[in-house]
Amino acid sequence: MTGLLDTPRAASARPRPAPPLALIAELTHRCPLQCVYCSNPVQLLGAARELGTEDWRRVLREAEAMGVLQVLHTGGEPLLRPDLSVLLRAGRALDLYQTLITSGVGLSERRLHDLLGAGLDAVQLSLQSLDDATARRICGGDFLKRKHEAAALIRASGTPLVLNAVLHRLNLGEVGNILQFALDAGAERLELANSQYYGWALENRAHLLPDAAALRDAEAQVTAFRAAHPQLSVQWVVPDYHDTAPKPCMGGWAQTHLIVGPDGRALPCPAAYVLPDHVPPNVSATSLEQVWYDSALFQAYRGTDWMREPCRTCPQREVDHGGCRCQAFLLTGDARNADPVCTLSPHRDVIDAALDDLRRPAPGDLRHRPRTA
Ligand code: SF4
Ligand code: FES
Repeated sequence: MTGLLDTPRAASARPRPAPPLALIAELTHRCPLQCVYCSNPVQLLGAARELGTEDWRRVLREAEAMGVLQVLHTGGEPLLRPDLSVLLRAGRALDLYQTLITSGVGLSERRLHDLLGAGLDAVQLSLQSLDDATARRICGGDFLKRKHEAAALIRASGTPLVLNAVLHRLNLGEVGNILQFALDAGAERLELANSQYYGWALENRAHLLPDAAALRDAEAQVTAFRAAHPQLSVQWVVPDYHDTAPKPCMGGWAQTHLIVGPDGRALPCPAAYVLPDHVPPNVSATSLEQVWYDSALFQAYRGTDWMREPCRTCPQREVDHGGCRCQAFLLTGDARNADPVCTLSPHRDVIDAALDDLRRPAPGDLRHRPRTA
């Protein structure tokens, strides 16, 4: 074990961080879709490992007590939890703002009515592609019609609708159609999130990483669309491999979000399952307050004490926090290294090699995540 153990004096001198703004409740890893970029870990958990209703209700109470304002109920597909209404009711009693992040598969008019009555405030619907064959290739099944139906149901109910599309080589050329779909569907916001390469997306990176020209073209379409349709908020999450500076991942380690996984493991970001140096605290045995303020994992990369060169003395260290710890670990073998996207990183060559591979055909075929675990 490393990390905090290296800097005990500096860690104890740190000011107490603000409470998290949002709890991301990963209620399950089970999902009817099999997306090739799924942000769930490659080692998926089955239903038998999931926290029960009472545990989740306690987690919600503890979150509210420490100042959390918003809960994102996500998965996998959270609609597969039969107790979702019970959890929403618990959240509403605590006055939490609750968003459902869903594929829309399994969202009937009656289910939506139940969820809204229980305390759901907003829905974020994922979109893989607006082309049947491409959608099937990305998510392993024929779900496009149900996405259209889900979007219409949500809008008809008067519920705020956010659409989310993870972008990559297979669908980047559809950005214009996706923008128009969001406009026609009456969405409040469209998140165009260029794929980040962790978990399943990293497994499939050779098939998903787009080239620079395709990205430039898509971004130009987004810019033009924003100017023409200012009523629709369009968020463009930058593709960091093509950048020279890393993203300030999660707004800094353990600064704003607290993630609880299906089995109760608590993490500062959805990809941190992979980090080997700290066993994640589990909410079955540790209160959320202890998780956030005292656990070794959450303290490990807060602030700048943990940094090595070139981050340690870099003027950007308080701005980008050294980039992404999970990406640093996955691509360099040590989460304390600078994110290799940074051109000052001695490991930038791993990013350049991935970009260089774009000139060759991708080996093998796409690897879909299992449907259920
Ligand atoms: Fe950010 Fe570190 Fe690169 Fe500086 S050296 S820009 S802090 S990743
Ligand atoms: Fe974990 Fe960036 S995804 S810190």
